[in-house]
Amino acid sequence: MDKIEKLKKLIHHHDYLYYVLDKPEISDQAYDKLFRELKELEKKHPELITPDSPTQRVGGVPLKKFNSYKHKKPLLSLDNAMDEEELMDFDQRVREGLGKDKIEYVAELKMDGLAVSLHYKKGKFEVGSTRGDGKSGEDITHNLKTIKSIPIVLNEPIDIEVRGEAYLPYADFVKVNEDRNEKGENLFANPRNAAAGSLRQLDPKITASRPLDIFIYYAHTPGSHYEALQKAKKLGFKINPNIKVCTGIEEVKQYIKDWDTRREKLDYEIDGIVVKVNDLKAQEKLGATGHHPRWAIAFKYPPMQAETIIEDIYVQVGRTGAITPVAKLKPVHLAGVTVSRATLHNEDEIKRKGIKVKDKVKVQRAGEVIPEVVEVIKSKRTGHEKEFHMPKKCPICGGDIHRAEGEAVARCTNAGCPAQVKERIRHFCTREAMDIEHVGPAVVNQLVIKNLIKDVADLYSLKPEKLSKLERMGDKSAQNIIAAINNSKDRPFERLVYALGIRLVGKHVAAVLAQHYPKIEQLMKAKEEELSKIHEIGPKVADSVATFFKEKENQHLIEKLRKAGITLVSKAKKGPKPLAGKSFVFTGGMEKYTRPAAEQLVRDLGGMSHSSVSKNTDYVVAGTDPGSKYEKAKKLGVKIISEAEFIKMVI
Ligand code: IVH
Repeated sequence: MDKIEKLKKLIHHHDYLYYVLDKPEISDQAYDKLFRELKELEKKHPELITPDSPTQRVGGVPLKKFNSYKHKKPLLSLDNAMDEEELMDFDQRVREGLGKDKIEYVAELKMDGLAVSLHYKKGKFEVGSTRGDGKSGEDITHNLKTIKSIPIVLNEPIDIEVRGEAYLPYADFVKVNEDRNEKGENLFANPRNAAAGSLRQLDPKITASRPLDIFIYYAHTPGSHYEALQKAKKLGFKINPNIKVCTGIEEVKQYIKDWDTRREKLDYEIDGIVVKVNDLKAQEKLGATGHHPRWAIAFKYPPMQAETIIEDIYVQVGRTGAITPVAKLKPVHLAGVTVSRATLHNEDEIKRKGIKVKDKVKVQRAGEVIPEVVEVIKSKRTGHEKEFHMPKKCPICGGDIHRAEGEAVARCTNAGCPAQVKERIRHFCTREAMDIEHVGPAVVNQLVIKNLIKDVADLYSLKPEKLSKLERMGDKSAQNIIAAINNSKDRPFERLVYALGIRLVGKHVAAVLAQHYPKIEQLMKAKEEELSKIHEIGPKVADSVATFFKEKENQHLIEKLRKAGITLVSKAKKGPKPLAGKSFVFTGGMEKYTRPAAEQLVRDLGGMSHSSVSKNTDYVVAGTDPGSKYEKAKKLGVKIISEAEFIKMVI
């Protein structure tokens, strides 16, 4: 059908104008009309649907796992230059290597996202993958197709590989996090993690809901590097517009200087400048070490800082009553977002940095979302600054605040403090705890304020009629919430232990406790001395656990949970414990298991799983894209095994 072909071409063209060139020529309505027309025709003639149709960007059913993809040419990483001297050393090495005085470089922004490789056959997008360990990555074709600035069909029917950086612009990153916060999910620490997390989704619909973008920084074509990028642009790829050919290192230095300030105005994060020898023959001559090319280097910028004023300091009350001082800042633009608060951690931190209200300070975001105060600019003090004192009473409930000997954190001592109640319930519902969907901070807030619940057990007796009276809550949402709450009754016991929000009991400690005490009665009876004999349970944790279960209110809470039908015993498999005493750390993505499932398996077989590598770690299981844990394991001489080797151990 000619019409279908025509529509496909037309939509591809308008996608290109809109997403790559940012120069749309038709209105959104006109575009939607074309798209609908194509969809209608394809519905009538499903036999004519081809994978390169624009309607197929979000295709089909979620995958069960990612296939691994072996790169034909390894994807190397870049050596870093931390300062000008190291950059000059690089230039000297290049000049010596090539026997030339002045080198033509290409300077580019170093986007902070996820490296991907895209393969096209006869001009059609065939397969896309992550970098992985450089030799092989994961096949994420279905997710990459959802990125509208990745062409599905090129302007020429050629075979080509291009590489680039997929990233999430700041504004979208903030939106994604707001959405996650609302749902009670963990927040992404930075745009890079958000991009990586979005691309490693088995369900492409989730990826499609995150407005990822891409810049191509490498194309496998003849000519210079700059020409290769121009060629890529002609083919339909999105190239960063700020690329510059520089003659000699001095021009590169100027580019780096210019972008040190200009980067603040970008709507995506960069963490440096990449400098590449332009001539491809010269690149070949210089070659590469095992890890990085000798013809390129990444100049790293220090974290972005800004100056502002601390207008006030107030305190927040957390789940365990912890009182955290927070600086209210005069809003300041920093790393693409407006910052108006910074955590001050605790009283000692305030003293150590000498922070006063009305102080001028430097704030920094080192890739993290929550900014922090780096230092006070004491030379700008006027004498009107005021010392901050921690309150003696909780600002929420008026209860006493107490700071125990040897502890940095002060706490509100009233367990019934509404701030604590809300935080405890919110924690209980989070994904890593009882994973109750739809019950985010806003819902919990209303439930507590309207007196519908006083503790986590009350969630299980909520009635839909009451729920639907909450703001912005219809009957359907109320039903969904009730269903989600009911669904959570049978979560693994260790999750329940974690969800209780006992101080110092994180996911790992909860799993250790559940393993030693497979029934809640046993855990409730455990004495402090007995608890602290357990490997990995220190005296502070033992004290915290024993104290928690000594409290009448908590005993009552467990009874209420029991009556509500919550699983309070461990269903861990009985049987041989071949991993007894062995400790595992997982890094990178796995194919056969999700991370939590692999960790659970280790525990079921008597082993332990940890989040960080130490010399006591027995095995580091390295999947694709292994992170710093891999490097640390190598440094400490810890045994590193592949997923396949891990599977052999557990099956
Ligand atoms: S070139 C062999 N150019 O930085 C050279 N990389 O550590 C391959 N990156 O894995 C990389 N922007 O994810 C190159 N303009 C750019 C880049 C860039 C970001 C990332 C890329 C790579 C990492 C290097």
